[in-house]
Amino acid sequence: MNILYIGAGFVGTCSAAISADSGHNVLVYDIDAKKIEKLGSGDRDTIESCLYEKGLGDMLVRHADRISFTTQYTEVEHFLDTCDAVFMCLPTPEVGESGESDLSFYKAAANELAVALTKRNNGTQEKRIVIVNKSTVPIDMVDQTAHIMDGHGVKAYGVVSNPEFLVEGKAIQGAMKPDRIVVGAWTPEDFAVMRNVYQRFYDAPDVKYLEVNPKEAAAGKLLANYYLFAKLAVCFDVIGRTAETFSDIQFESIRKIVASDARIGGWGFYDSLYAGGSCLIKDARSLSYQLQTNGKEATLVNETYTANRRQLETFLARAEREAGFVWQGKKVALLGTAFKRDTNDIRNTPSIDIAHFCQERNVEEIAIYDPSALPMFQELFPASATIRYTSHEFDAIKDADVVILATDWPQFRGLADVMIGELKKKPLVMDGRRMLQHRYHDLQEAGFGIIAVGSPFLS
Ligand SMILES: NC(=O)c1ccc[n+]([C@@H]2O[C@H](COP(=O)([O-])OP(=O)(O)OC[C@H]3O[C@@H](n4cnc5c(N)ncnc54)[C@H](O)[C@@H]3O)[C@@H](O)[C@H]2O)c1
Repeated sequence: MNILYIGAGFVGTCSAAISADSGHNVLVYDIDAKKIEKLGSGDRDTIESCLYEKGLGDMLVRHADRISFTTQYTEVEHFLDTCDAVFMCLPTPEVGESGESDLSFYKAAANELAVALTKRNNGTQEKRIVIVNKSTVPIDMVDQTAHIMDGHGVKAYGVVSNPEFLVEGKAIQGAMKPDRIVVGAWTPEDFAVMRNVYQRFYDAPDVKYLEVNPKEAAAGKLLANYYLFAKLAVCFDVIGRTAETFSDIQFESIRKIVASDARIGGWGFYDSLYAGGSCLIKDARSLSYQLQTNGKEATLVNETYTANRRQLETFLARAEREAGFVWQGKKVALLGTAFKRDTNDIRNTPSIDIAHFCQERNVEEIAIYDPSALPMFQELFPASATIRYTSHEFDAIKDADVVILATDWPQFRGLADVMIGELKKKPLVMDGRRMLQHRYHDLQEAGFGIIAVGSPFLS
């Protein structure tokens, strides 16, 4: 099949790579020339410096003859003559803090596409084409997409909703072995096209291939993400808080007790300073907005969002309240800027709020380290008299008064030895990920104070 991807972000590029790997001919279009140059470079390291997903670089290099990247719409127009499906992979961020989805990227791309679609096959538009909403969109988006297409006089098209469930950091691995593929369409022809797109998974024994209508597909994506978000919020705000409140309660022991119940399950059973990233927060806000604009209450959805914010505020406030730590004039080591391990994505990463928090409290320095997401963070917080970037975690912590662990990069697990053995000062350890929980006792013995999510103050 010939498949066009519009938007070369995490979703567009990873899905396009899998399509090429499935034997399709793929064109990826984006307006970001720098990104397109890197992704189309044919060099694994260059690709991964732009989009860090394990296996993505190799896959794009391997299938270079089946996938190309462009910023030229003339190339897109030419491709559309024989194109079977167009995947819309545009950003749909929140408008301010309203919960509403900003559909301006989507609509700009859809309008541009619609104009090009009317010209295909010398204006006869005889080849049927399917427009696939892969972006996470409002539940009624299928109608909005059709409205845009009809407004331009596009013919012989269908609109399908095929939400993406990728997990950043495991996008390629996950896409090779998806747990489910959800296709929402109105017509048998559109379902048939999508079965061809996903032929390798359609009959696969361990993939749930779910055919529903487009609104169910869009709603299912939002609700699945809300459910995951709620699980995290319960873990942070109820279970973690309980473990922080009572001495002699180890978070990990509670996890064993609670998560052993198959009805509860183990996913999301960790304590963390914040659930960041581009999806969970935004999708919960969007769900709330859509419920409320349709005259319904969204109390629990809103409270889940608030619980996540409260978690980060509580974590930061504990330094002063429980350890008597005064931030002003202090040196802070901030370890981890990616919103989670194995990605360079910094969208909604707690480190942004932490850096602002430190700046507002007039710290002397924030020394920042991350193994993959520093260039992205530097765009928001350029190096300055108070902001210093380091190329190793030890450089960040060696003179610090407080060490904040914000991302669960596995390499941070080994920090306790370095802290105990080599640091002259004994910084306050703020473990926002329980990365050092196996060494809290040793750190305490060595004279460190520890503020950790899911533990009372340890000193
Ligand atoms: N990142 C995830 O983990 C994830 C998972 C599931 C669903 N989603 C959803 O998928 C969608 C895309 O997310 P993402 O993370 O890939 O976003 P992203 O920001 O990484 O990528 C979006 C791309 O679209 C491009 N773009 C913007 N306007 C354009 C236009 N008019 N024409 C062509 N390209 C344009 C941008 O330059 C960017 O490269 C969002 O709706 C998101 O909620 C994301």
